[in-house]
Amino acid sequence: MSTATQPALAHVLLASAHHIHGVLNGASLTDCLAQTTPSLRAAAQAHSFYSLRHLGLAQELRRLLVPRQPKDGVLDALIMQSLLLVDVAVRVQADRDAFADRPETPVYSVHTIVDQAVEAAQSQRALRPFKNLLNAVLRRFIRERTELLEQALKKPVAQWNHPSWWIQRLKKTYPNDWQRILQVANIPAPLTLRVNQRRCSVTRLLALLEQAGMPAWSPGHDTVVLEQARPVQQIPAFDLGWWSVQDSSAQMAGRLLPVVDGMRVLDACAAPGGKTAHLLERADLELLALDADAKRLDRVAENLQRLGLDGPHVQIKAALAQDLDAWWDGKPFDAILADVPCTAAGIVRRHPDIRWLRRESDIQATAQLQRHILAALWSTLKPTGYLLYVTCSIFPEEGQKQLEHFLSQHADAVLLPESPLQVLPNLETREQVGGDGFFYALLQKCTQ
Ligand SMILES: C[S@@+](CC[C@H](N)C(=O)[O-])C[C@H]1O[C@@H](n2cnc3c(N)ncnc32)[C@H](O)[C@@H]1O
Repeated sequence: MSTATQPALAHVLLASAHHIHGVLNGASLTDCLAQTTPSLRAAAQAHSFYSLRHLGLAQELRRLLVPRQPKDGVLDALIMQSLLLVDVAVRVQADRDAFADRPETPVYSVHTIVDQAVEAAQSQRALRPFKNLLNAVLRRFIRERTELLEQALKKPVAQWNHPSWWIQRLKKTYPNDWQRILQVANIPAPLTLRVNQRRCSVTRLLALLEQAGMPAWSPGHDTVVLEQARPVQQIPAFDLGWWSVQDSSAQMAGRLLPVVDGMRVLDACAAPGGKTAHLLERADLELLALDADAKRLDRVAENLQRLGLDGPHVQIKAALAQDLDAWWDGKPFDAILADVPCTAAGIVRRHPDIRWLRRESDIQATAQLQRHILAALWSTLKPTGYLLYVTCSIFPEEGQKQLEHFLSQHADAVLLPESPLQVLPNLETREQVGGDGFFYALLQKCTQ
């Protein structure tokens, strides 16, 4: 590591420590990143992602080394992420190839990490008195790392890097799959694109990517998976609206809802518009995109414009889906996409802060909201019409149990056989695309 980059690491460590502290106090990583100096943002994001994916281990190591939790949360976070970085550094020293296929892992020399962590503490008045403590903790970890890791990893939270209640729930719900689900949650997701079939084809995009030196492959449909993730701005034809970034499991939504030209369609929780755009790519629809968050709806308009899908046939409206008086004109819909708000437990690979932000009680509260939204939307669907219920969760309260309750209350609802129901997150291999965890139920309203 050259000396020119050393000061930057201290700044990055500090920015990332603020992120970890923010997340542990209930702020989303996206919001924390938005407040970060632009020149530090990309590096701090990489560090924060790594730390949040290993936060259970970091917390346990800190507890063993500093039993009384530091009152200053930024100091606590700085200690924790420095410990993780030292651990990576020692493993790389022992085996040069240990992280060769994990470009997302921040790798520095042990010396640089200790030096820059102390430098980071020195740079902040509140942390300055603790720089010797930080130095001593890191040096002790370097000496006693093997024993400390062994002890820490006895705790499930440290082993799986998820809160205990989360691990317990997955064990109970998925007795055969819970370990794989937790492992997948800590492996970065592939970068998956959805081709805008109104402007491009999969074959054409693959050729363009090949030409640009970005090898990619297609598992079918409109999906293209890049062999190596990279910033969206570097990928050709984004501004031309040839493609959108969308996870492969998320892409199932646009395919499952049976839409044909001329249908009147409601996308009830539409922002930022990924699935809205997919539906409009597939058929000429009269579509209402609704969302509770007016600011997020701006992204729907931007996305549709970039993809060439906007026009008078699309209406965008801010309202609560369950508050029909606020938005419904009384004309029933042919098809409804209900991609309802959820705990997002199925997309923790892409958002490693989620598992630390959620409380167990959120599941019931969210399921209750979903129940209200679903019941209200059902009344706006015409007989024979379709409703696709979607969540990016893997907790049954938001999926299977929600569906069972709905069917028990709505005698005019039929679950169609093409519904995949619970889709679990999976790794990218040639057989599996590496999609997120989703729940899908396609319902049809029968005429009684
Ligand atoms: C899973 S996201 C939707 C993602 C979107 N369908 C896509 O594919 O890009 C859920 C959305 O529901 C919105 N939301 C939350 N509560 C809502 C409510 N009561 N009514 C309508 N939208 C709501 C959130 O603002 C959020 O944008």
